[in-house]
Amino acid sequence: MATLQAIKYNDGSLEILDQLLLPESCTYISINNVQDAWSAIREMKVRGAPAIAIVGSLSLAVELRKLAAPETKKDLHSLVKEKLDYLVTSRPTAVNMQLAAEACVKLSNNLVDKASVDAAEAKDVIVKHLEAMLANDIADNLAIGEHGARDIAKKCGNKDKLRVLTHCNTGSLATAGYGTALGVIRSLHKANLVDQVYCTETRPYNQGSRLTAFELVYEKIPATLICDDMAAAAMKEFKIDAVIVGADRVAANGDTANKIGTYQLGVLAKSHNILFYVAAPFSSIDFQIPTGQSIPIEERPHSEMTHTGSIRTAAAGINCWNPGFDVTPAELITGGIVTEKGVFKSDQLVPV
Ligand code: MRU
Repeated sequence: MATLQAIKYNDGSLEILDQLLLPESCTYISINNVQDAWSAIREMKVRGAPAIAIVGSLSLAVELRKLAAPETKKDLHSLVKEKLDYLVTSRPTAVNMQLAAEACVKLSNNLVDKASVDAAEAKDVIVKHLEAMLANDIADNLAIGEHGARDIAKKCGNKDKLRVLTHCNTGSLATAGYGTALGVIRSLHKANLVDQVYCTETRPYNQGSRLTAFELVYEKIPATLICDDMAAAAMKEFKIDAVIVGADRVAANGDTANKIGTYQLGVLAKSHNILFYVAAPFSSIDFQIPTGQSIPIEERPHSEMTHTGSIRTAAAGINCWNPGFDVTPAELITGGIVTEKGVFKSDQLVPV
């Protein structure tokens, strides 16, 4: 079966699957420059922390490939920095674009000082660095899947079949491919360990019912959609073994920002004695932020709550609060933080 591809990149040509149109239509749109990527990220045509960083970075590769090399490496560096600074402003909570930008700016700065490399060669090195993100992300996700599946199976006492609950969308659509939390579920399924996946609809934007359900059906993984307010009942009724979610940013102490509703799942998992895991690339850990309190939380348009499509469903005049994310305290992450480097307890996180 062909794998679901949110991001298609070939020799300077970038296309993304417009996730606003899923599941009704699989339509790819071209991203021709950094401005296109910024708008697609802001409008959530592409979303999910790793995918945001990859599309942002690849859009710069697209631009750089078309551009004649600037006269000096300093000019190149200024251009790269300006474009990346702009991309970082597209959405605030996920750290991945910021860290990808910092790494690329550092590389371009180092190239300025390297006498043996001219501006054209420096441009090629930066393009190659940006283009490598796609393959690196898939490799990281496969490793996350393996580590997570092994750890869950072991901590669940090597049961024959497991019931897992996930939130939001962390699959192929949110990454370069395979996924993080959904990648772990894919690996569990490959090992024939999945009895049932419960996916929340993830109100108000419905990444669960529109996107995760789509991926689960596409891959024929046994799955059931539940509303967000059914999580406690589902945990009790179906004897769920583990909750596994993604992350937009993990603070140095392990507090984790993820899609709104993740925190309540952490609380519920604890009170039902269910393992709670976060799965994310190591680059989602922001060691500059000591605790979750300093993570910026995106406020989303109220229309996501008051309207279904163009039809108003909430009483006119009602006030709304629509944060896109919440922070799950580290102590609720009882299973661990699954990364490509292994599974960590929150007090074991150190920069490498
Ligand atoms: O608003 P979104 O759809 O970008 O939020 C996505 C999430 O919260 C995901 O769980 C997170 O980015 C991890 S994606 C691998």
